Amino acid sequence: MPSPAHHDPENRVAVVTGAASGIGSATAELLAAKGVRVSAWDVDARFTAPASTAAERFLRLRVDVRDPRQVADAAAATCDQWGRIDLLVNSAGLFLVGPLEEVSADAVANLFEVNVIGTTLVTQACLPALAACRGAVVNLSSTVALKATKSNSHYAASKAAVAALTRCWALELAPKGIRVNAVAPGPTKTNIYHAAGMDEESQRRLLEGRKNDIPLGRIGTPEEIARWIVRLGLSDDWITGQVLAVDGGMCVA
Ligand SMILES: NC(=O)c1ccc[n+]([C@@H]2O[C@H](COP(=O)([O-])OP(=O)(O)OC[C@H]3O[C@@H](n4cnc5c(N)ncnc54)[C@H](O)[C@@H]3O)[C@@H](O)[C@H]2O)c1
Repeated sequence: MPSPAHHDPENRVAVVTGAASGIGSATAELLAAKGVRVSAWDVDARFTAPASTAAERFLRLRVDVRDPRQVADAAAATCDQWGRIDLLVNSAGLFLVGPLEEVSADAVANLFEVNVIGTTLVTQACLPALAACRGAVVNLSSTVALKATKSNSHYAASKAAVAALTRCWALELAPKGIRVNAVAPGPTKTNIYHAAGMDEESQRRLLEGRKNDIPLGRIGTPEEIARWIVRLGLSDDWITGQVLAVDGGMCVA
């Protein structure tokens, strides 16, 4: 059984989903820079290892988090390669925008399949390895789960579900020594808006509009979200079940 890696990141192994882009990519990059071995999962296979990583410290796997078989195979491949999983970052996610009148059941089902069921399947698959290391999970919720906004109600609901799962799993998994927290980012410039079908102009309007709701007056960068994911994930802090808003103050405004 692997021993807890304590404070030496170089002994640790992290699984990062959604690692091809945005917050997941920045998180994989930061973990790799700290010497953590990173098993990077994404449905989009067109991504490369962070420049700071030696190839043998980076495992790139094509995984659709909606598919239990692919997820189980990826968890097994990670354990075969490195024998442990100390940290799981569930960053794979989709955004959905549009008024209630226009939303389709299929789009909502797919959103929940990735954001809620995918997060569940990946966490389940990594659970035995996380328990063996007394490891940590960091989920990605969102400011919109904590504060109402217009035109993305189902996305907000999916991220509120992630916040609820985070609190419940923290309670359920504490006896196994697994800490479960979430970061709730505010609006952050990544590919998620383009992936949701928004053109440049609609993205600009959405993000500029949101800027007015952010006390610190600007949108976020993936790197500043990644910093807190890594902090919550790698520290042995006495913290579990928390949803930490990293949002320039948007949720308290
Ligand atoms: N960008 C923001 O403003 C923001 C705000 C709050 C929360 N978040 C959350 O942060 C997380 C990361 O988002 P991002 O902004 O970096 O988005 P992004 O689109 O840049 O990255 C998301 C990644 O997830 C991958 N992905 C999508 N579906 C997948 C699937 N079925 N299986 C495996 N991988 C899949 C995509 O290929 C992509 O590489 C998401 O959960 C998102 O909801 C983002």
